[in-house]
Amino acid sequence: MENRKPFIAGNWKMFKTCPEAVEAAENLSRIVEGVSDVDIMIAPPFTALSPVSEAIQGGVVKLGAQNIFWEDEGAYTGEISAKMLLSTGCSHVIIGHSERRQYFGETDETVNKKIRAAIKSELIPVMCVGETENERDEDKTFSVLDKQVKKGLEDFLLDDLKSLIIAYEPVWAIGTGKTATTDQAQEVHSYIRSVVRDSFGSTLAEGIRILYGGSVKPGNIEELMAMPDIDGALVGGASLDPETFGKIAMY
Ligand code: 13P
Repeated sequence: MENRKPFIAGNWKMFKTCPEAVEAAENLSRIVEGVSDVDIMIAPPFTALSPVSEAIQGGVVKLGAQNIFWEDEGAYTGEISAKMLLSTGCSHVIIGHSERRQYFGETDETVNKKIRAAIKSELIPVMCVGETENERDEDKTFSVLDKQVKKGLEDFLLDDLKSLIIAYEPVWAIGTGKTATTDQAQEVHSYIRSVVRDSFGSTLAEGIRILYGGSVKPGNIEELMAMPDIDGALVGGASLDPETFGKIAMY
């Protein structure tokens, strides 16, 4: 198996004011101080990126945004560009989260544009994919993921995707307390890796980190990370408390 460094990310979604975010980030930074065998990232809301960046400076915690717009600048009220994210100290950006797809009309095409904008600015994209409960029930999991991965990465060159991270988040397991079984998750991760292999070759496929997301907690992280194709986690609810997230990051 390839030597892929584990990546544990916290997606804070629309939680925490600036002072709350700074406090949580400072605490987390202290808890995971010196951890070097796992990459740890948090994605606070846009409003807290700058102060959180300052709060974690000098530590091991990396900073990500939860979304990005693909234009550099312009009359796009409410949107945030790659350059703006970089200026806050962000190194990563989550793209195409299922909540963005479900509530804000994001599609594989917009995901593709956003990944392109991130890569152009050397932000590391974390591309989210995942099937809904209906799609799983109708045995469409693999076809849905095939499309999401292929369309999301359409027309990219191998070289563009060296930093890419993929997060598999089955929609039915997000915030529901229902985790995919480790075997279910492993099966899909292995499938996603095979789609990347078919499109871009085995070097990228073996090197790319594929995170699992959906009700990850301190109690199930170890089991998930023991699977050969699970390289990390994208954690929602359980990332809000630094103690709990610290336990996940130091599983
Ligand atoms: P939960 O961990 O709350 O299920 O959320 C997962 C998620 O959506 C992370 O992006």
